[in-house]
This record gives sequence, structure tokens and C-alpha cells, in this order.
Amino acid sequence: MKTRPFKERVVLITGASSGIGLAAAKAYAQAGAHVVLAARRLNRLEEAAREVESLGVRALSVRCDVTRGEDVEHLMREVSSTFGGLDVLVNNAGLGLYGPLESISEEQLRQVFELNVFALWRVTRAALPLLRGRKGAQVVNVSSVLGHRGLPLLGGYCASKAAVNAMTESLRTELAPEGIRVLLVSPGLTESEFREHRMNARGWAQQAVPLKAMSAEQVAHEMVRASLRGRRDTILTLPGRIMVLANRFVPGLFDRIAHRMANPVKKDA
Ligand SMILES: NC(=O)c1ccc[n+]([C@@H]2O[C@H](COP(=O)([O-])OP(=O)(O)OC[C@H]3O[C@@H](n4cnc5c(N)ncnc54)[C@H](OP(=O)(O)O)[C@@H]3O)[C@@H](O)[C@H]2O)c1
Repeated sequence: MKTRPFKERVVLITGASSGIGLAAAKAYAQAGAHVVLAARRLNRLEEAAREVESLGVRALSVRCDVTRGEDVEHLMREVSSTFGGLDVLVNNAGLGLYGPLESISEEQLRQVFELNVFALWRVTRAALPLLRGRKGAQVVNVSSVLGHRGLPLLGGYCASKAAVNAMTESLRTELAPEGIRVLLVSPGLTESEFREHRMNARGWAQQAVPLKAMSAEQVAHEMVRASLRGRRDTILTLPGRIMVLANRFVPGLFDRIAHRMANPVKKDA
């Protein structure tokens, strides 16, 4: 980015140790922002912070498990003491879950909701005092095209992202009077460590998806663009946009297509 529209702004990104979060840290830094990188793998964050600092901005790495309240409080104290406030919070940390709703365990479903939903709520709530009063403050929630439509074998994950979408809408109207914008970015299939980290229902594994994935850098580029424009809703990849439209206008037909595309693989079948 030639100009630096986020110059002197402070951006906090959860899940900044890999994939979309790491790419977002670099993209906001290229746009001039100071960046706070949060995740559990501190060595990864520190390596990323060195790269970010080479772009001429400040970087702060904080080891934080966002599912733990005390870690999140510590994170906000670090942001406050280092930068005195926050301009953009990117709620990106997330986890996938694969398998039919009948076969996923309650523990797996709770784990996915704990990170994708409860932690997003927890981090946002803790960050609000730092965002308040900052001109142009934003919360950017990373959802998924799968938050807009439930697909077979992905029901637990889809449900968690649908919850993110609903929270985003509520929060947007709750915070509008204070001038804090709340944006939703919904990536489609993206190259990252997501599939390595994803949980599978016992005996289930997903085959490679026959769709072209976006790079994490492309997603990050679109995120920074949305952030610059204050765009409320960004759905990425053409198949992702087609899916959301097809579901809206021909849901019955889309059910049948979704069933065919599910391509289920049972490891012990
Ligand atoms: N990849 C896709 O196809 C795709 C598509 C649509 C939406 N998304 C969404 O994009 C977001 C980023 O995913 P990604 O594709 O970049 O996957 P990824 O490479 O697996 O990144 C996930 C990030 O979340 C962090 N994380 C996991 N558990 C955490 C915890 N308890 N506390 C703090 N951080 C935690 C991980 O860091 P640590 O392990 O170091 O904590 C990692 O940095 C997720 O919300 C995902 O649902 C991904």
C-alpha cells in the first residue's frame, strides 16, 4: 500500500500466529498501523512482530488464549500500557469442526463455540473501554461464508459462525451511537493451517475440497480494504458469493447441490 491510511492507528488481531491473522497483521502494518499480535504460540508471534517492525511500525506480541478470561484481561492491560488505546479490533481466532451433527461430540461442539463465539464476545467486551472515544474505532469480526448457510458435515462450525454473524449485527446497532463501527468479513476457502487444526468427528475426515482457495494474503488485503471503507459486510470468493445468493433465492435447489457436494469420507468406512 503506497499511502499509509492507518498511520498511528493501533490494530489488535487475535489468532495472529498463522493464516489470515498473520497476513492481516502484515497488511495493517503495511497500511501504517501499529499492530498487537495475540495468540497462544508466542514464538510465532515474536517472529511475525519482527517482520511487522521492519515495515516501520511498532508491534507488540502477547501470548493469549482467548478462551481464558485472565489472559484476555492481561492482553488488554498490555495494549493499554503500550499504546494507551485501540482503534481496530480484529476478532480472527477460530477453529473448524468436521463431521455430521449426529457424530460430533458435545465436547467438540462446545470447544468450537468456546473459541469462535464466547471468546469473540469476551475479547470484544474487554476491548470496548480501549476503543471508546477513538475516532473511527472498529471491530472486525471474521466469520465465514459458512456462517451464511449451513452445509452438511459442517453444521457445528456453520452454527458457530452464524452466531458470529448475529452478534455482529446486534453489536453494530448497539455501538453505532458511540461511533464504533462493526464489520463482518466472511472468507471462503483460504490457504492456512485451518485444516490441520480443525477437529473431526470420530471416524470422519474431509477430503480436499475441489475449489480454488484464496491466499491468506488476499483475504487480509480485502479485510484492510473493508476496514478502510467501513464496509459492513464482505463476503469473499466468487463461489462464496454465489452460494449465499443461491441459498437466498433457490434454497431447495441449493439443499440438493449441497448434499451432492458434501462428498463425505468416513475414515473407518
Ligand atoms: N481457512 C479457511 O478456509 C477459512 C474460511 C473461512 C473463515 N475462516 C476463519 O478465518 C479465521 C482464521 O483462520 P485461518 O484460516 O487463518 O486458520 P489458522 O491458520 O488455523 O489460524 C487460526 C488462528 O487462531 C489462533 N487460535 C486458535 N485457538 C486460539 C486460542 N484459544 N486463543 C488464541 N488464539 C487461538 C491460532 O493461533 P495459536 O494456535 O497460536 O493460538 C491461529 O493463529 C478463523 O476464524 C476461521 O474460522 C477460515
